[in-house]
Amino acid sequence: MKILGISGSPRKDIQSGVYKLVETVLENSGCEYELISLRGKKISGCIACLGCVKDNICKVDDDLTELRQKIVDADAYVFGAPNYYSTINAMFHAFIERWFQFRHQTGDTLWGKVAVAVGVGGTAGQAPADTIEKFLLYNFVETIAKVSGQGAASCYSCGYGETCQVGIPVMLHGAGVKISEEMIPNVSKQPELMKAAAIAGDLLGQRLRAGNDRQKTTQAMQAKLMAMFGETA
Ligand SMILES: Cc1cc2nc3c(=O)[nH]c(=O)nc-3n(C[C@H](O)[C@H](O)[C@H](O)COP(=O)(O)O)c2cc1C
Repeated sequence: MKILGISGSPRKDIQSGVYKLVETVLENSGCEYELISLRGKKISGCIACLGCVKDNICKVDDDLTELRQKIVDADAYVFGAPNYYSTINAMFHAFIERWFQFRHQTGDTLWGKVAVAVGVGGTAGQAPADTIEKFLLYNFVETIAKVSGQGAASCYSCGYGETCQVGIPVMLHGAGVKISEEMIPNVSKQPELMKAAAIAGDLLGQRLRAGNDRQKTTQAMQAKLMAMFGETA
């Protein structure tokens, strides 16, 4: 059983809350895994060229090309993205938009796989986790757990955090804030959040070891997607 982990943060792994949480989920799965950061990768969004409709293979040649086989080979995914403007960041959006290549005709390559979605924001990470879940549903991939929380916004370290009128330190702690190390909400300092990530990893491992019935999962996700369309039509 192999899990593919993707961190969509453009920040260095050591600074990124998304990377840390995705890594924690993977470490607690008890499965073989690979964790890849999208940082520094050049991946464009889908350009709607329809080059993939015949064979379900994207013809845009960039850094997603080498990731395609890893996406196909994995039994499960742990995907994380930072909250930018109350949704996933553009880098992760581009990555997952390109999964359009798997969605044509009898393209069931990803159907019925399972995933954990991770979201981190300067205030909250629910929005990106929810968006990841929705994207995965389009390929009938079930999100079995979501982990979301508050990370260390760059405003704490940009140099202007104490006076910036639109920065997170002033927004959360008020005017005149004095930034201290203790106040910076690194995910690893939050035991409940780290525990949630560990539990999600354990759940994912258990589901895989129990033998994920992909056909059954696919049927459940098809029904869920149809219900979602019904609500928004
Ligand atoms: C362009 C940009 C937009 C952001 N918008 C939001 C936002 O709308 N809500 C929020 O909670 N955090 C927002 N943030 C803060 C990030 O989500 C936060 O720094 C988070 O820790 C990033 O994840 P990372 O640590 O893995 O990079 C924004 C950051 C950037 C750079």
